[in-house]
Amino acid sequence: MRAGIWGMGTYVPDNVITNEYLEQILDTSDEWIQTRTGIKERRIAPDEIKSSHMSFAAAEDALTDAGITAEELDMIIVATVTPDQSFPSVSSMIQHQLGAVNAAAMDVGAACAGYLYGMAVGKQFIETGTYKHVLVIGTEKLSQTINWEDRNTAVLFGDGSGATVLGPVREDRGILSFELGSDGSGGAHIRMNDYIFMNGREVFKFAVRQMGESCINAVEKAGLTKDDVDFLVPHQANIRIMEAARQRLELPQEKMSKTVDRYGNTSSASVPLSLKYEIDQGKINEGDVIVLVGFGAGLVWGSMALVWGK
Ligand code: UT7
Repeated sequence: MRAGIWGMGTYVPDNVITNEYLEQILDTSDEWIQTRTGIKERRIAPDEIKSSHMSFAAAEDALTDAGITAEELDMIIVATVTPDQSFPSVSSMIQHQLGAVNAAAMDVGAACAGYLYGMAVGKQFIETGTYKHVLVIGTEKLSQTINWEDRNTAVLFGDGSGATVLGPVREDRGILSFELGSDGSGGAHIRMNDYIFMNGREVFKFAVRQMGESCINAVEKAGLTKDDVDFLVPHQANIRIMEAARQRLELPQEKMSKTVDRYGNTSSASVPLSLKYEIDQGKINEGDVIVLVGFGAGLVWGSMALVWGK
């Protein structure tokens, strides 16, 4: 039995923060932000909208897309580093709100690779026959961690949520392989003090090397070569890092998802937000081989090769 994606849903807050707005509150410029990161705007949630609210909205859409009810869920995994509070977990909150009375619930903390970690966990439960339907969500309210006076981080991040229903699929569809990894020696480079702190240059060097490497590893574990890959959905941290991964796979520009311009870096939400965006744009078709990849605080990384469709 193989696990694959039955349906997806996303949510982003309505409130758009442009680079031009940030120019007014920080010593920065639209030109600097766009050339160094590729970001034009990001969504920022108001105070009353937390990670759980965004997850719930994305989850409802994912269930509809998958054509199943909340009662049919066996497990809910929420990847987030910005939960509403340290406990109860976001996953338990939305288990209750959805009425997913038969589902186990847990949060996963692997920063910008969290969605990949969650998907890999969900895949195991399905492929062992333990569970049939697993909801995997990447959700972040990064704006709650930002010091709006720190231009090194304030221009980079955004809020949002992406949800996926995993279930059993045909043998020639679904998740073929994954790679997860961690190098905690780089832990100081992105960390939470009172606010998020990042040594951008060090993370940049790590990411450029690790994203491409991990993509190749996932493809090889799937028994494929880079020529077989149809589409790349990388974590949307910085267009220059994403480009390095794309070049490693020798894919043309139009075969890589780029939503960093509209959503900024949404950490664990970035891969599912981008995947759903490309599906809606008609860029991903039945039978396509897709590579997903994320990296971030830990430092950690995760990648996955899958064939689209059920
Ligand atoms: O998802 C989690 C993973 N995180 C990442 O992937 C982030 C990885 N790193 C990056 O994306 C990039 O390193 C940044 C976008 C964060 C920074 O770009 P960079 O090309 O590495 O710039 P830099 O850190 O080398 O800074 C260059 C200059 C500095 O000034 P000096 O020291 O050269 O005078 C910064 O102070 O740019 C300055 N700077 C800014 N200037 C205008 C830093 N932030 C800003 C800003 N506006 N917002």
